[in-house]
Amino acid sequence: MWWRGFEAAGRRCFSRAHRSWGKTAPAVDGGEEIDLTEKTTAKTFSALQAERHEQAERTILISCPSNISEKKFYKYLSSYGTINKYFFYEGFIDEQLYTVCKEYQITEENTRLRFLVCSLVKDIAAAYFPECSIRPFGSSVNNFGKMGCDLDMFLDLDSISGRNNTKTGGVFSMEYETKRVASERVATQSTLSVIGECIDQFAPGCTGIQKILNARCPLVRFSHQPSGLQCDLTANNRIAMRSTELLYIYSNIDPRVRALVFGVRCWARSQGITSNIPGSWITNFSLTMMVLFLLQKRNPPIIPTLDQLRDLAEAEDKYVIESHDCTFVSNNKIKPSQNTETLEELLQEFFEFYGNFAFNQMSINIRKGKEQHKPEASPLYIQNPFEQALNVSKNVNQTQLEKFVTSARESAWILQQEGIKRPMSNTKPWGLAALLLPTMQSSGGKSKKKRQPASERIKSLLDSLKANKETTGYLNRSNGGRRHICTVAW
Ligand code: CTP
Ligand code: MG
Repeated sequence: MWWRGFEAAGRRCFSRAHRSWGKTAPAVDGGEEIDLTEKTTAKTFSALQAERHEQAERTILISCPSNISEKKFYKYLSSYGTINKYFFYEGFIDEQLYTVCKEYQITEENTRLRFLVCSLVKDIAAAYFPECSIRPFGSSVNNFGKMGCDLDMFLDLDSISGRNNTKTGGVFSMEYETKRVASERVATQSTLSVIGECIDQFAPGCTGIQKILNARCPLVRFSHQPSGLQCDLTANNRIAMRSTELLYIYSNIDPRVRALVFGVRCWARSQGITSNIPGSWITNFSLTMMVLFLLQKRNPPIIPTLDQLRDLAEAEDKYVIESHDCTFVSNNKIKPSQNTETLEELLQEFFEFYGNFAFNQMSINIRKGKEQHKPEASPLYIQNPFEQALNVSKNVNQTQLEKFVTSARESAWILQQEGIKRPMSNTKPWGLAALLLPTMQSSGGKSKKKRQPASERIKSLLDSLKANKETTGYLNRSNGGRRHICTVAW
């Protein structure tokens, strides 16, 4: 829902409009913004108060659908009298979602820290693989990362295996031989095992090294103490790099994409649907795919399907990894969507869509932008966009899926309640805060533990984020090729 505030030149003259309150948005009056500072410095307090009261007497607030033609609406209202100014007020939930996104996103310094940790790990790996690189992927770089998310790293040995076994330098020619191993997987496991050992023995600040080599995607997990980052190092994981780039492209198509993903991630966390601990929970990656799928299914769609992105690709975008087609357009040839739905409407749609989705039969597929029959019986089936025979949510069990569906239905219901979308009193949570409350509280049930009001919890969460930022360790590169690590508080 959008609000438009109109200030008439004379007395209030519009019927069927009501007065209400709202946060001011930029004035849209010949493209000029009101300069409040000029007025406040030039006038006495009482004169300004009187003027504001008089202005208020001539002002009305009209609630109207978001897709209304502003020009036509303005023209229509002008036929009743001259309009001095008009303002736009977006839905309050929209504003809250953009705030959550802004407050939770990874900061510039934290991004730099992540790249620096990659560079430190590269120094260790270079002892064995001098030309390797370590590249971050996943939420650290796909634009959906939240402060505190893990650092997924990819040991890129392509520059080494791509040596073609021969190198020429002047009159010399160097030949490399690669030891034969049973399979790519075995080679990856050995590589990670050796690097894991080196990190354990020699990498400053790296603790709690775990080699998880029998996973589908073998990895070395450790904690980098100075930066506070939890790190997952993988190798031979080029497809995940590509899906990271795909998510990055989707995040840039429309600002609603990021805001909705952040909002849904935040909601899922507060409902206990996701967790940092590996298990049968729905992961953030799966939630992101679910949001993207919903946005592809809107009418008109907000983002294109992966097949459409592939069709837009040019020769240089062609990318095939282990016979999987990972081609999609990488430039800005993607047209902006004509869809004008608000975030509030989209959030409501998310809850309604997934609260009623036929999870028992259908799968989610962002390549096609259409649900398809599930090829196997996993409770939640989200097709991997590139390795199409894989389910990215294979870990999710029936209990967790049911928990998700129940929470989605309940949140859809809460959002439909009158008065939930804007503050009515100081004590009752509203907007996003009402959604982030656990089930028992919002339905008025008796909860065992008395919890802080959600609005307070969000505030303290945001405060703790700020505090994190203030105490984040910073790493400095000193001369002589050696690094010193110092922690700076400011
Ligand atoms: N990935 C994948 N298939 C999976 C899980 C992960 O392709 N079943 C890839 C995705 O590119 C994902 C990346 O690996 O972004 C990292 O995985 P993960 O850390 O689980 O997800 P993130 O997107 O990084 O989200 P989070 O903030 O929870 O770390
Ligand atoms: Mg991650």
